[in-house]
Amino acid sequence: MTVLQLTDVIQPAHAAVWLISKPADISKIGLNKAESGYIQESLTGERRQAFLAGPGRTLAVLLKDKADNLSRNAETFRKAAAQLTNWCNENKLGTIQLNDSTDNAHDLLAFAEGMLLANYQFLKYRKNPKKETNTLANIVIVSRSVNASDVAHLRIAAEATCRARDLVNEPLSTLDATALARTFRQYGRDAGFSVEILNRAKIESLKMGGLLAVNAGSDRPPTFTIMEYKPAKARNKKPVILVGKGVVFDTGGYNIKVGNHMETMKCDMAGAAAVGATLWAVAKAKLPVHVIGLVPATDNMVNGSGFVPGDVLTMYNGLTVEVLNTDAEGRLILADALSYGEKYSPELVIDLATLTGAAAAAIGPAGIVCMGTAPEKAKEALKASGTRVHERLAEFPFWDEYDELIKSDVAEIKNIGSAYAGAITAGKFLSHFVKSPWMHFDIAGPAFLASKDAYRPKGGTGVGVRLLFDFFKNYTGA
Ligand code: BES
Ligand code: ZN
Ligand code: ZN
Repeated sequence: MTVLQLTDVIQPAHAAVWLISKPADISKIGLNKAESGYIQESLTGERRQAFLAGPGRTLAVLLKDKADNLSRNAETFRKAAAQLTNWCNENKLGTIQLNDSTDNAHDLLAFAEGMLLANYQFLKYRKNPKKETNTLANIVIVSRSVNASDVAHLRIAAEATCRARDLVNEPLSTLDATALARTFRQYGRDAGFSVEILNRAKIESLKMGGLLAVNAGSDRPPTFTIMEYKPAKARNKKPVILVGKGVVFDTGGYNIKVGNHMETMKCDMAGAAAVGATLWAVAKAKLPVHVIGLVPATDNMVNGSGFVPGDVLTMYNGLTVEVLNTDAEGRLILADALSYGEKYSPELVIDLATLTGAAAAAIGPAGIVCMGTAPEKAKEALKASGTRVHERLAEFPFWDEYDELIKSDVAEIKNIGSAYAGAITAGKFLSHFVKSPWMHFDIAGPAFLASKDAYRPKGGTGVGVRLLFDFFKNYTGA
């Protein structure tokens, strides 16, 4: 993980990035005449970036756009920071100092965030990882206006995001349900929260019919992980529950995925990764909130005992479900976790899941599809966090008409809808298992990228972690 520090003294020996508001600010950087003349010239016309890479001084200067909207502005800086991160690594820099000519804390923090996130690499399985490791190891914010706790929070949120990315990038062979649960136990030890892992026998005795059905075709046992962070000075009386889909690999089951649809399915535990990483972050930052994370985990495989279309399941809450497609497995394991969560009488429940191709098809990797029954105030707070961290929420309708689409002739409900509104019928399915105020985040679009996008790497993105961390930073209880 790239180290992030805060100081108020410039070290002339180190390379620097300067954010400036107007060309005249070049005079504040401390350059000689020739250098500032060169930078000045480079910033004429449409050009907003200038670079100086010499033996005495390595410098990048960024001329800011007019600040009109804080969130949009922050995203501009994160993206510019991603480009500058590439520049740092191409120039083999080890340390970069970040300065702002007007000492604008907001802009500096957004820029630092972009760099931390962009400098992520997953090199565990490379033959020569040292050779490929980015040179950039230290980011130093030079400022009097940035406060230390903001830097600490930024560091934690970025590290948590990278932890979630690592988990998503890990294949089934090294990260099955048991390994996932053990990783969360390690997170708990590291950050200070309690972790209980329910094994197959316990899951059987609890009659979690959804989780057991999805696991039936697997040679590996399921797990159900309960994480709890409960600080003495929590602002909320009743907990907030996070539920994460932990399908460590989704083959589709007997409705097996065809073509190349299976290729990326190690990503199907991205919801679980976001939940575990968020618990880690909240506990590390000692935020005054009581949070519980629930992760049902299994792979969705086929052997002689796998569940099949037509099977009728009795779920943890007693509801019966007709399985019509074994590839709609996420909602089955989430259903048991959601109804298990009811025993805590939570203030708010949020689930995160790579649940439907329909959500990904609808809005792509640009945002998170959401829906649910939470009060408007909670929805607005979540959307505001999403906008601030640029993990935007797109709320889908949750009209009664969609309930009709999952009625079953055999059981109470069935696990698929009709030809349209696939993301919504999946959400409607989940709604049968949670009575508390609840939001469903379908992260199938942004969880795993086919190619790098600015500060989001190819592969696992860690989506959801920064959103939830921001939400909890601002959470004051219902
Ligand atoms: N894990 C998939 C959803 C998914 C698709 C995640 C693409 C990430 C990228 C989920 O379990 C699934 O297969 N859903 C089916 C549901 C259908 C059978 C009703 C789908 O979306 O096709
Ligand atoms: Zn599936
Ligand atoms: Zn799935």
